[in-house]
Amino acid sequence: MPGSAMRCDTILTDAHVLTMAPGAPSPTAPIAHALVAITNGRIVYAGPAADAPRFAPEHTVACDGRLVTPAPIDAHTHLVHGGHRAGEFEMRLDGVSYEAIARAGGGIVATMAATRRASVDDLVAAALPRLDALLAEGVGTVEIKSGYGLTTASEIAMLRAARHLGTLRPVRVVTTFLGAHALPPEYAGRADGYIDHICTAMLPAIAAEGLADSVDAFCETIAFSPDQVAKVFAAAAALGLPVRIHAEQLSNQGGAALAARHGALSADHLEYLDPAGIAAMARAGTVATLLPGAFYVCRETRLPPVAQLRAAGVPMAVATDCNPGTSPMSSILLAMNMAATLFRLTIAECWQGVTVNAARALGLAGETGALVPGLSADIAIWNADSAAELVYRLGARPLHARIWKGQLC
Ligand code: NIG
Ligand code: FE
Repeated sequence: MPGSAMRCDTILTDAHVLTMAPGAPSPTAPIAHALVAITNGRIVYAGPAADAPRFAPEHTVACDGRLVTPAPIDAHTHLVHGGHRAGEFEMRLDGVSYEAIARAGGGIVATMAATRRASVDDLVAAALPRLDALLAEGVGTVEIKSGYGLTTASEIAMLRAARHLGTLRPVRVVTTFLGAHALPPEYAGRADGYIDHICTAMLPAIAAEGLADSVDAFCETIAFSPDQVAKVFAAAAALGLPVRIHAEQLSNQGGAALAARHGALSADHLEYLDPAGIAAMARAGTVATLLPGAFYVCRETRLPPVAQLRAAGVPMAVATDCNPGTSPMSSILLAMNMAATLFRLTIAECWQGVTVNAARALGLAGETGALVPGLSADIAIWNADSAAELVYRLGARPLHARIWKGQLC
């Protein structure tokens, strides 16, 4: 008889485990009859039950052969915002373009007005159903951006709301300051003045309160130029904050390459990314966060260069981009389905996109996104047989249970 059993908090028994461990032979071939052991909120074992040490658990969760994966991570959302833009959706159905609506004072600026009117409590209340929808699909970590306040006070209110959401639900919230999302009307014709204001007033105030985990900017003809974005990135670096970018969504501005030169964690959207941008991202290890919801809603026809990103070894993440304009979507499973159907990601890439690569996009590769010893026990247990089944079904509610930081919730 081997030595005494190892005490642990919880074990999951008879699981079909998809560890998403980097370097595992096939990221979509689950380990059958597996066991996962958890202590102090961390994974201590995930692998074949036959090879497991003997555990003496406090709690046992019988998975009865269910698929068990890392809890999905939504690495790009604008979950916190006031109002909605169903009216603009109707205009777009009549053929008016997203750019035309933005130039006519709609778009991001319309949501800005609704967001400025909202209190922190209003913003939290409006965002909670969207957050709950993500949690109902097992999400364990969500990135939430500001960018609809566009004043110091209103951006702070958005980020406080985002942080507060993370205290109301068992979920890890990563916040991003996106002051450079659109030019607020007060600065009409003075974009450089607004960028200076971001760098010298907004960002330092937000950093002083510890409200932002990273800094983002929208590099586009209807938003900010690469030179303006570079100033924001320099100010972020001076405060020790990592950067990310909305780039090459509607046109090629060289934003992804710029972000890569600044060591960006991720460059997001990327439909118009060129070979130089891909090479720069590959060199810098910047994650390509693909947002098929925005592609779909905008009826974009230009595909992100997935084959070239794959060939260059650029890690790809997949996220909802949940926002009131271009992607009113709070389903990570639908984002994965769209990434497969519209962007031709493989099933393995869809799963990497919401686990290991999404963690990396958020600077959390050492914390979550895979079921390997030492990482946070953020786990989804599914009523499904395979990784492909979860990507393939539309509108299913396949989550059986969710474990976050080792707690069943
Ligand atoms: O990620 N691209 C810019 N920002 C959002 C759109 C926001 C909006 O239209 O409200 C996006 O697509
Ligand atoms: Fe976005």
